[in-house]
Amino acid sequence: MATYISHSLEETLALGERWGREAAPGWLIAISGDLGSGKTQLVRGIARGLGVTERVHSPTFTIVNYYSSGRVPLWHLDLYRLETPEAMRSAGLDEYFKPEGVAAVEWAERWLPVDLAGRVVDAGGAARVRRVSIQVIDEQVRKIEYEDSGA
Ligand SMILES: Nc1ncnc2c1ncn2[C@@H]1O[C@H](COP(=O)(O)OP(=O)(O)OP(=O)(O)O)[C@@H](O)[C@H]1O
Ligand SMILES: [Mg+2]
Repeated sequence: MATYISHSLEETLALGERWGREAAPGWLIAISGDLGSGKTQLVRGIARGLGVTERVHSPTFTIVNYYSSGRVPLWHLDLYRLETPEAMRSAGLDEYFKPEGVAAVEWAERWLPVDLAGRVVDAGGAARVRRVSIQVIDEQVRKIEYEDSGA
């Protein structure tokens, strides 16, 4: 488990940008964290690192946004509104975890089954999962913990 302390929005964007530059097809970036902790900003950074030129905004009302202008296609999901297992199932989420793309998921813990140690049990076929947890320390400071599993 790695820990990164972000002292500003810019540092969070830059961390996401580094991840976006290294991201490969089949990656799933599963992000948890309180309201306003910076999940969407991290995804904006990831998109930037992938070379996405479209404007990235939160898909809260649509569940998923798709960006095709980068080096690898990016699916950006926000599961905040999917409150029940039934809602998850009928949303057909598995469809977005394509081997040819990168999926970044806000409120990922609402969907991904994890074991007692918090490890993802079934990542819908993703090649690599980066589990990310963002904690608000104060107005500007965020503690970002992350851990990879898979290839
Ligand atoms: N170090 C930081 N990293 C990221 N965002 C920060 C930081 N410091 C302050 N902020 C502010 O925190 C807010 C984070 O908003 P963001 O929409 O990314 O949160 P979120 O976790 O996606 O929220 P939601 O649960 O509503 O989707 C922004 O207004 C951003 O400017
Ligand atoms: Mg958000």
